[in-house]
Amino acid sequence: MDLTRALPLTTDRLLLRPFVPEDPEDIDGMYAYHRLPEVARHLYRPPRTREQCAAVVTDAATLPTWENDGDALILAAERAVAPGVIGEIVLRCASAHARQTEIGWTLHPAHGGRGYATEAAAALAAFAFDTLRTHRLFARLDVENTASARLCGRLGMRREAHLVENDLDGDRWGSEYVYAALTHELRRA
Ligand SMILES: CC(C)(COP(=O)(O)OP(=O)(O)OC[C@H]1O[C@@H](n2cnc3c(N)ncnc32)[C@H](O)[C@@H]1OP(=O)(O)O)[C@@H](O)C(=O)NCCC(=O)NCCS
Repeated sequence: MDLTRALPLTTDRLLLRPFVPEDPEDIDGMYAYHRLPEVARHLYRPPRTREQCAAVVTDAATLPTWENDGDALILAAERAVAPGVIGEIVLRCASAHARQTEIGWTLHPAHGGRGYATEAAAALAAFAFDTLRTHRLFARLDVENTASARLCGRLGMRREAHLVENDLDGDRWGSEYVYAALTHELRRA
């Protein structure tokens, strides 16, 4: 599938677009939130360096064909009123055969509490069902990630699993919720 024709996406307040390879502003924009311990906390990894962000931006700039398990679409979120990356929304092809797609989100805390992550996630969830032919959309989140759990609820996702101590985050056993939605369950804008 050629995704270049289908992107970017726009919402009432946001532009969701591919990252630009080696673009210093995109790298700095991403680094601004991925360097923060409070952002990394629920992602089961340490904060990222600027060099790591540069590598992610370059990888993300090449759009996937969405034909293989593991294909990932990472879009930068920008406000319509002001340029600059404020976060990212990710779709990952968990099973091309069974059309299972994982969704994830990260927002700079300075832009939190305004509904931007929900707006971006709702648009990308609709894109997953309508354009990528996803059958089931799911999210995995740490049980302590209450902001993400509320976001899943706003999208219309059901909590369908509670995985107990299924991962190790440093020296802390992490437990996860799995939320999911089929196309008719998605709460569309
Ligand atoms: C998860 C994360 C994106 C949620 O951020 P957020 O600011 O709570 O999400 P939104 O931008 O959608 O804002 C929603 C909040 O704004 C409020 N809000 C204000 N105006 C709003 C509007 N116009 N529309 C919707 N919500 C609005 C909502 O009530 C909600 O607040 P509440 O959760 O206290 O009820 C953010 O905490 C984050 O990046 N965390 C670190 C990374 C992470 O955990 N990623 C997920 C891994 S699974």
